[in-house]
Amino acid sequence: MSGELSPIDKAKFVAARRAADFVEDGMRVGLGTGSTAAWLVRCLGEMVREEGLRIKGVPTSTRTAELARDVGIDVISLDEAKWLDLTIDGADEFDGDLNLIKGGGGALLQEKIVATASDQMIVIADAGKEVETLGAFPLPIEVIPFGWQTTQALVEETLISMDVLGRSSTLRMNNDRPFMTDEGNHILDLHLKRIGNPRQLALVLNQMPGVVENGLFIDICDIVIVGFGDGRVELRDINKGTVEHDRLDFVETDNLFTDLGD
Ligand code: A5P
Repeated sequence: MSGELSPIDKAKFVAARRAADFVEDGMRVGLGTGSTAAWLVRCLGEMVREEGLRIKGVPTSTRTAELARDVGIDVISLDEAKWLDLTIDGADEFDGDLNLIKGGGGALLQEKIVATASDQMIVIADAGKEVETLGAFPLPIEVIPFGWQTTQALVEETLISMDVLGRSSTLRMNNDRPFMTDEGNHILDLHLKRIGNPRQLALVLNQMPGVVENGLFIDICDIVIVGFGDGRVELRDINKGTVEHDRLDFVETDNLFTDLGD
């Protein structure tokens, strides 16, 4: 079955499988959103069903909540959990300091709230997500629908004084309608090309009244697990300053490799 997976899906799977090793009995775990996080949810579901792992999962989107329930994970809200032991999520880009761009799937707000409310955040990614400087991936910001065009104009004007290469932005669409987040907001994608000072940009964007949150995750991620299509994984721990290498076999189980919707 695993032979049908593309190298990039294998890379995402092995990163997710390695991250699942960090999940222990009794933990409250933040469950990310996106195709890589979906592998993680599948892996954890299998551990719940096959090994009797007992965890509470706090999803970062309605999509992830549905998948988590489908695979047998006990889903609770963040308010029920209050604080989490660990969050595991994907990313659109990460740099050498483990700063991230997230929100390609439109779930950045819940993702940031959940990750920030966790003792530890692990990012799982294929090697293509690593960049020297953040910004090639358009930076998503979540904006209130009220006056969004005025907010957009204000954001673009503010970008003139920021250390970025591009300043245009686009309203994210879902077919012919504006994309709506789980919180009922819109997403503006900022085409910055290069973000010279992500920390400063994150602070400035969040000071604007119509901006709810931005997709820059600064000093939130503790560990990145990078997966490769041949089964190798690289684990970088920013706090310990360590880099570990490992190799995983593809274990073919029907439940894990069928019908992954995200
Ligand atoms: C969801 O809003 C995002 O933050 C995702 O975590 C990010 O887009 C990575 O998604 P993939 O794992 O699908 O690349």
